[in-house]
Amino acid sequence: MNPQSLGNQSPVTVVSLQNMKRSGEKIACLTAYDASFARLLDDAGVDVLLVGDSLGMVVQGQETTIPVTVDDMVYHSRAVARGRRRALLMVDMPFMSYGRPEQALDNAARLMREAQAHMVKLEGGRTQLESVRLLSERGIPVCAHLGLQPQFVHKLGGYKAQGRGETAAIKMLDDAKALQEAGADTLLLECVPSSLAAGITVAVSIPVIGIGAGKDCDGQVLVSYDVFGITHGKVPSFVKNFMEQENDIQSAARAYVAAVKSGEFPGNEHIRD
Ligand code: KIV
Repeated sequence: MNPQSLGNQSPVTVVSLQNMKRSGEKIACLTAYDASFARLLDDAGVDVLLVGDSLGMVVQGQETTIPVTVDDMVYHSRAVARGRRRALLMVDMPFMSYGRPEQALDNAARLMREAQAHMVKLEGGRTQLESVRLLSERGIPVCAHLGLQPQFVHKLGGYKAQGRGETAAIKMLDDAKALQEAGADTLLLECVPSSLAAGITVAVSIPVIGIGAGKDCDGQVLVSYDVFGITHGKVPSFVKNFMEQENDIQSAARAYVAAVKSGEFPGNEHIRD
């Protein structure tokens, strides 16, 4: 990628995300699975493109994210990398690709080397501290995913909000601090009460990106197919279909970025505690 092709816009890095947290500029993140959408979302000003393992559900038509493989992630991330210009490329580590720290290192290295990831995302709290520390020490930026962890769907018995009640909230806050201490560069909070997400966002110095976690996180992420209204079936109540007020995908993506940056999204109707 030639940075000069970005004009005066610098590529988004781990350091820019930290600066955005410090300055209060909200981080706009969306999922992307191919080069065309990556280019379109990047042009619309999305700061972070997440190649989520949600691709198992929205692209492959699977019932959960569990069947997604590292090869799948490499294939889609390479396509996204060809479309991106400015956004930071975050790539999910799929189910059981980081069950052991050395395995996490090998697979994260593949995602960095073959798929051009700038950061990998993995689900889990304290159980992942050793892996997060190892990746971080070897130069691999990590986003730790707390709250609802879709790879645990069979253990949880469904897609349920997390962190409700004092004990669960204290545990999540402790996990967040421990992950930061282990070297995580960002946190992602999914389906967490907004008061808890706000507390975690203040308690850690790394950027916190929320989905269904209220408006006080440092940034927001949604599955892009939800934002464009092309997901089959019921979507969660924290989702907003930006195509309802726009005529094309580019305008809807720009509207999403503007709404995140201004703090207009999520609105009260997208927040349930
Ligand atoms: O896989 C994914 O798309 C995700 C988002 C829902 C945050 O992890």
